[in-house]
Amino acid sequence: MHPWFTERFGNPSSIYQLGQDARAAIELSRQQCATVLGCHPSEIVFTSGATESNNQTLLNIMLDPASKADERPHLITSAVEHHAVLHPAEWLEHRGIDITVLPVVTNGIVDPDDVRRAIRPSTRMISLMYANNEVGSVQPIAEVGAIARERGILFHTDAVQAAGQLPLNVNALGVDFLSLSAHKFYGPKAVGILFARKGTPLAHLQMGGGQESGRRGGTENVPGIVGLGMALQIAESGRESYGEHCRTIRDGLWEGLQEQIGGITLNGVPTQNGPARLANNLNVAIEGVQGETVLLNLDMLGIAASAGSACTTGNTQPSHVLTAMGFSAEHARSSIRLTTGRCNTVEDVAEVVDAFASSVSRIRQLAG
Ligand SMILES: Cc1ncc(COP(=O)(O)O)c(C=O)c1O
Repeated sequence: MHPWFTERFGNPSSIYQLGQDARAAIELSRQQCATVLGCHPSEIVFTSGATESNNQTLLNIMLDPASKADERPHLITSAVEHHAVLHPAEWLEHRGIDITVLPVVTNGIVDPDDVRRAIRPSTRMISLMYANNEVGSVQPIAEVGAIARERGILFHTDAVQAAGQLPLNVNALGVDFLSLSAHKFYGPKAVGILFARKGTPLAHLQMGGGQESGRRGGTENVPGIVGLGMALQIAESGRESYGEHCRTIRDGLWEGLQEQIGGITLNGVPTQNGPARLANNLNVAIEGVQGETVLLNLDMLGIAASAGSACTTGNTQPSHVLTAMGFSAEHARSSIRLTTGRCNTVEDVAEVVDAFASSVSRIRQLAG
């Protein structure tokens, strides 16, 4: 990324050589992304991240006046989506779009039969996340993709949490739209992509100049796009070994926490159910403590963890994901998410387990 901030600072829309170099760098990144997604480079639109990709897809497709003009368009989504889907869906509902929010069972997964049952003649799109950011549950995307295709309905997936962990081939998944954020696969922040299948009625994400073939006006974030393409290529090439690494540490953590902390339970899919839970995700509830309090204690010990989604930190509401899974508000507030990654080592396991156990014991003592 570095040269594109400094000596190679050309504007990719300019015809001088520096600009054309920047254009070539963007097109190389587009090719890298297309290779990972198994699509044509022209189907990749660079955005500022998945929030933009999700918002713009939902708004563009659901408010498109061209199709089925005689009925209220209908959108199907799920109760465990990120707010970058749920909030635009609510916004659309206030503007006359019919929305069905599908439930999940306690493991956080949507039943494809519920999708089938929710479909109406007016259903225009299904938006279902690939993997959940709080509990790591992996949705049956290919199955829902097949249903959508059979019924002629557009299908969008927010694949933010899946990148670098699960296959992203858009044809195998049967998706028409797919959103990613680079920082979830060790790329830079505030850059992402939207895959938009050729022939789908996506007009433009934002109007302005003719960038991104007229689909997203605005000067491109060249260093970010360069970083994204390279990060996605690296993430995909190391996907299996990364998964194994994350799983080993995650499983070690879960074993250690169970040994040292009484009243601890796992939220979501059992860790041994391989493909249905992301290998890097652990989400636990600890009886009698507030998740936020444990987080603060862990932070003082140099350990970064989360309660709920990172974007809702400071929000006093219990996690909408855990409550949709049928847990009480109290259970949700006592929950913590630990995510393992490339930089963690097996040596970290003992340190985190000890820090976690001593924090919980101190909090329980203080609470009497
Ligand atoms: C599943 C999911 N979707 C969307 C987003 C939003 O991504 P961004 O903040 O990069 O736009 C996130 C962020 O954590 C996420 O986890």
